[in-house]
Amino acid sequence: MRDDLQQTLVLIKPDALKNSLTGYVLSQFSEFHTGLTFAGTKVVHVTRMLAEEHYAEHRGKVFFPALIEMITGHLHYPGEPDKQRVIAIVYKGPDVIRKVREICGPTNPHVARDEKPGCVRSLGTVVALKDAQGNIVGDRMDNLIHASATPEEAEREIKLWFRPDDIPPAIRAFPTVHS
Ligand code: PPS
Repeated sequence: MRDDLQQTLVLIKPDALKNSLTGYVLSQFSEFHTGLTFAGTKVVHVTRMLAEEHYAEHRGKVFFPALIEMITGHLHYPGEPDKQRVIAIVYKGPDVIRKVREICGPTNPHVARDEKPGCVRSLGTVVALKDAQGNIVGDRMDNLIHASATPEEAEREIKLWFRPDDIPPAIRAFPTVHS
């Protein structure tokens, strides 16, 4: 794909919504600052099936169940199904995958604060995961946003989250699963 047609998927996750950070996150990606533009955006109620497909490569890891609970909104909005959602955005522009991940910062919010103060994920938190006996068995990253890591991942994720009609034909980079 031509570099100027590159697209990436960003998910504004339930922890960002819960902490009223949506406006802040969008401002960090704004065209004025970055030169990047929207190709599509939608509010998505994330089913367990969609969540598990999105994070399929992490199935079996100790944090996987918590990651699924988090992205489906069950953790931050227990008992509030109308609020269990994410904002999914496709951004497009030259070198968009790298630029967006630069704005996000490192996956782990503690690392983000140390290495890249001011990046979006520096506002996130790391939550200890405990077993039934209270022993710490791992961490869950509440890092506010997801962003595709590679062109291949971006294509897979955009096809998973967006239908053809969600993105105008003139700016659609590749067909989605429903086309
Ligand atoms: S990244 O940012 O996608 O390159 O990071 P990666 O390590 O490939 O993705 C891991 C996703 O799982 C979430 N997660 C964790 N990762 C590592 N360790 C722990 N303990 C953990 N808990 C959750 C991490 O936030 C990545 O999801 P996204 O949505 O991309 O942030």
